[in-house]
Amino acid sequence: MKILVINGPNLNLLGTREPEIYGYTTLLDINQELVEYAKTLSNEIELSFFQSNIEGEIVDKIQQSADFDGLIINPAAYTHTSIAIGDAIKAVGIKAVEVHLSNVSNREEYRKNSFISNSCIGVVSGFKKDSYKMGLLGLYNVAKRI
Ligand code: DQA
Repeated sequence: MKILVINGPNLNLLGTREPEIYGYTTLLDINQELVEYAKTLSNEIELSFFQSNIEGEIVDKIQQSADFDGLIINPAAYTHTSIAIGDAIKAVGIKAVEVHLSNVSNREEYRKNSFISNSCIGVVSGFKKDSYKMGLLGLYNVAKRI
């Protein structure tokens, strides 16, 4: 089972970026922990990671994801602005989970809207690095039933 993990803008700065909100773990460490967690679910899960600060690169990556079985995406600020990323997920028809480190529902008003979630099977928000693990668990359980 091939799962693509996409992280959007400024998530390359995790570890030092507003750690009281996003935690102290770097993106590299989050990715490595996710690889370890995946092994506890199944040795058939293969994770690929992509981070970009550029909306079009994220759209391109999603368009190229036809041979993946699922997508975990933290679109970061593009969550609240990008119709294009949501459209790309719908266009390729990939099973996607939107994840956020912070709880976007109890922050600024402008973070309450997501242009991505209606293209996704679920959303995990607020559990810092564990949001990715929860997203993977949900995606794996949905994908293996098919
Ligand atoms: C975020 C929440 C977004 O509102 C914000 O712009 C981010 C990170 C999160 O993971 O909590 O960059 O997606």
